Amino acid sequence: MTLSTLRHTAKTMVEPGQGILAMDESTPTVGKRLKAVGVDNTEDNRVAYRTILLGTPGLGDYISGAILYDETIRQSTTDGEPFPELMQRQGIMPGIKVDTGAKDLALSGGEKVTEGLDGLRDRLAEYVGFGAKFCKWRAVIAIDEEKPSRACLEANAHALARYAALCQEAGLVPIVEPEVLINGAHTIETSFDVTVETQRQVFEQLYRQGVHFEGMILKPSMVISGTDCPQRAGVEQVAEQTLRCLQQTVPAVVPGIAFLSGGQSDEEATQHLNTMNQMARELSLPWQLTFSYARALQNQVLETWRGDAAKAEQASQALLHRAKLNALASRGEYTPDLERAAA
Ligand code: G3H
Repeated sequence: MTLSTLRHTAKTMVEPGQGILAMDESTPTVGKRLKAVGVDNTEDNRVAYRTILLGTPGLGDYISGAILYDETIRQSTTDGEPFPELMQRQGIMPGIKVDTGAKDLALSGGEKVTEGLDGLRDRLAEYVGFGAKFCKWRAVIAIDEEKPSRACLEANAHALARYAALCQEAGLVPIVEPEVLINGAHTIETSFDVTVETQRQVFEQLYRQGVHFEGMILKPSMVISGTDCPQRAGVEQVAEQTLRCLQQTVPAVVPGIAFLSGGQSDEEATQHLNTMNQMARELSLPWQLTFSYARALQNQVLETWRGDAAKAEQASQALLHRAKLNALASRGEYTPDLERAAA
């Protein structure tokens, strides 16, 4: 591993005007998304859907990399081209989700710890062979009166750091994703406190494992009111509090922050990113702020396609449009009237 390679990959992932397409849903999760639009979770349907996403002409203008699931990095398009080759033609770097999912944390009363460290060094070597340049590992932190516990924060931060170190050893940039869930009645203030504490633990553990901050990307959740909270924080407040949280927790040498969408609407996720980038300019923040959305990029694609081959092109256009709006937001140049404009 050379640090300059990691640094270069990380910088390229978050180049201004570019973001990351998260399409690393596991087979059961993609099944839920397909079922919601009346499509069966068969391998043929998954391939057809992924061919629409990655085959979208011009996608590489806005998307620097896409996070794949293990199945996808081994699969080929409906025309028989391996997905990693199609991505290379599109100028999109292949990334891979390497955790094996969030499992019940023992003795915790329903909290989760993400697993997948066993055998990870060998799996990473195989993914390098498929052309992967970066990886993702997602930890899940829930909020309620009792949660998160210190045990949950520490266990997840430790696993994220062990994962990140293994990635860098293999020459792969780790996307470090501690997701504080949006579900619940918590206020934005609670979201702020929990996100600060989560990210502090994560950077402490990354430091202890010797992870090079300049060769990683943080993928955090935004600081936002819980879905059932009666007082909804507005766009400005979300942007302000999210930036304040980053300022308190993230070392300046981290090249980029690529947010998850976490169940926000497509437009909300874009507006929040845009406002943060406008504010970041004033504050001269050290990091690139961009997106690594799954649902907020894919919702319209699925709605448009609904398993109908005749709608594939229109579905691709929906993806291109959303990717373009988020790319503009990554520069602070999005305006809501662009929602109605064609891609
Ligand atoms: O792990 C979750 C994805 O990488 C981001 O998904 O944008 O739908 O929250 P999301």
